Amino acid sequence: MTESRLARVLRQHVMTANLLGVADVPWYRARKEVEPGAPGPERVTGARPAHEAVQTASSPMLATATHDAIAETKPAPGPAARESAPTSREGKAALLARIRARYERDEPHKAFVTAHHRIVFDDGDPSARVMFIGEAPGEEEDIQGVPFVGRAGQMLNKWIEAMGLKREGVYIANVLKTRPPGNATPSPEQARLCAPYLHAQIAAVRPEVIVTLGLPATHLILETTLPMGRLRGVWAQFRIPTTDPLGLIPEEASGQPIAVMPTYHPAFLLRALTYENRQKIWSDLQLVMARLSAG
Ligand code: URA
Repeated sequence: MTESRLARVLRQHVMTANLLGVADVPWYRARKEVEPGAPGPERVTGARPAHEAVQTASSPMLATATHDAIAETKPAPGPAARESAPTSREGKAALLARIRARYERDEPHKAFVTAHHRIVFDDGDPSARVMFIGEAPGEEEDIQGVPFVGRAGQMLNKWIEAMGLKREGVYIANVLKTRPPGNATPSPEQARLCAPYLHAQIAAVRPEVIVTLGLPATHLILETTLPMGRLRGVWAQFRIPTTDPLGLIPEEASGQPIAVMPTYHPAFLLRALTYENRQKIWSDLQLVMARLSAG
C-alpha cells in the first residue's frame, strides 16, 4: 500500500470510528473468499448448500414453483431476454424502469399486503459498484416511496458515509417493495413471490458487491437458512438466475457471479447498540471496502 493510500485509509478509519462509535477499529481482515467446494463450516455460495437441498426440495415455497406461477399468469418473456446487458448508467436506468413497470403491473404483493401507500422500488445509482439489500419498507418509506429513509435508513447512511461512499453512489433495494402489514418481517413465501423482481434488479445493476442487510435478504440471496452469526463476515456468492420468469434478465447477465457480504440490518444495531455488534458490522463493511479498493 502506498503511503498516501495508507494515510487515506487511516483517516477513514478515524472518521468511521467516530461515526460508528467504535473505540478501536479492527484492521482489514485477510480476504476470506470461500470457493465453491472448499471445506469449512462457514462455506456459503449462491448455490444451495447440499445439506439444505432436501429441505428446499420438499418446501412448498420452491423458487421454481414461484417462477412457474408467475410464468403461467403473465405473458411469455419478450425480446428483452435476448437483449445485451446494458453497461451505461442510462441503459441500466432504462432497464430498471421496465422492471419497476412490470412489478407495478404484476403486483406480487397483492397476495399478502393489505394496505400500503407507495411502491418502494429502489434508490441510488443504477451503475453502482455496491448494492445494499434490505427487508421491506417501513412507515416512513411507505410515505416517501424511497427505501431506507427512516431511522434504519439514517443508520445505513452513516455506514455508507463511513465506508467513504455517498448514498447517491450506491444502489439500494429491498426484498419486498411494499410495507408489510404490521411492519412484520417478510416471510420466506413473501420473499419468494418478490424474488424475480429483485433478481432482475441485480442483473440490471450488476454491482461488484452486494451487501445483504439482515436475515430475510441474506437468506433469499444465498438460499440458506443459516443464522447470521454463521454468515456475516464471510464472502459468499450470488449467481444471477438462469431462469427468468419476467424475461427481463439480459442473457449475458444470467449465471454471472456477484460477491455477497452478509451483515446485520441497521435496525438490529438500533435495537442492540453494543460495542460488539458495532465492531462486527464495521468489520464486515471493511471487508467490502477492501474488496472495492482492490478492484
Ligand atoms: N428497513 C428496510 O429493510 N428497508 C427499508 O427500506 C427501510 C427499513
